[in-house]
Amino acid sequence: MSIQIFLLFCICSTVYVKTSSALPSSELHIKYGGEALKSLERLLKFFESDVKDLNLDGVYGLRIAQGQLDALHDKLINPLKKNIGVTDANNHVQSLSNQIERIANKSLEEIARKDTSYLKRFALIASKAFLIDYEVRNIKENLIETGERISEFDEDKSDVCFSEILGSNDRSNSSPCLVSQSCWNLMTSSKSTNYRLTHQLLWFLVAKTIGCIDHRSTSNLANKNLKYLEDR
Ligand SMILES: *[C@@H]1O[C@H](CO)[C@@H](O)[C@H](O)[C@H]1NC(C)=O
Repeated sequence: MSIQIFLLFCICSTVYVKTSSALPSSELHIKYGGEALKSLERLLKFFESDVKDLNLDGVYGLRIAQGQLDALHDKLINPLKKNIGVTDANNHVQSLSNQIERIANKSLEEIARKDTSYLKRFALIASKAFLIDYEVRNIKENLIETGERISEFDEDKSDVCFSEILGSNDRSNSSPCLVSQSCWNLMTSSKSTNYRLTHQLLWFLVAKTIGCIDHRSTSNLANKNLKYLEDR
């Protein structure tokens, strides 16, 4: 799976942006958030004009955007969270999410006609909004790796690990949240870069989103190791 990571960055920039501008941070978030939404709007227009040629990875990128839009919408309509200082009188955020739903549904129909096996593998994460839930926190200095990084990436092996955790590999008895030793090694190998690193991150995000981290009864390996990672 090759990720449309740019989409993710375009949404996350509302949160992570750091700059020396004189604007207070809440205004900066609004400014960059607004720009991210405008960019997304243009991107969706392009995708909608070319729905038939969107591949599954593209759909997945859109589902990530949809998850973040839905979370933002919830925040905007929740009176307890009104202190964020923004309103969305025209329901712009929700209409972008609806647009993604339309595009994704049409694309998935098209993809199902062309390649059902790849779709089957990733259906769970391409068929609905994918929320990336995160807390901003500082990275402990002892976890920062130095030295040469490895970019070598085997897409087939990585796909196998995704289908393992999604419970969608070819074995009939597969269930979600399984983690084999070889996949654990692949997904936690250190000093990664480029695709290797983005896929490691994505694998953990998928594990978290489908509940493998919070309800991980199926895999002792994941249970033991994920706990170890969290404690670091
Ligand atoms: C998209 O597809 C899902 C699942 O098939 C369905 O529940 C939903 O209503 C569809 N949405 C739109 C906008 O067609």
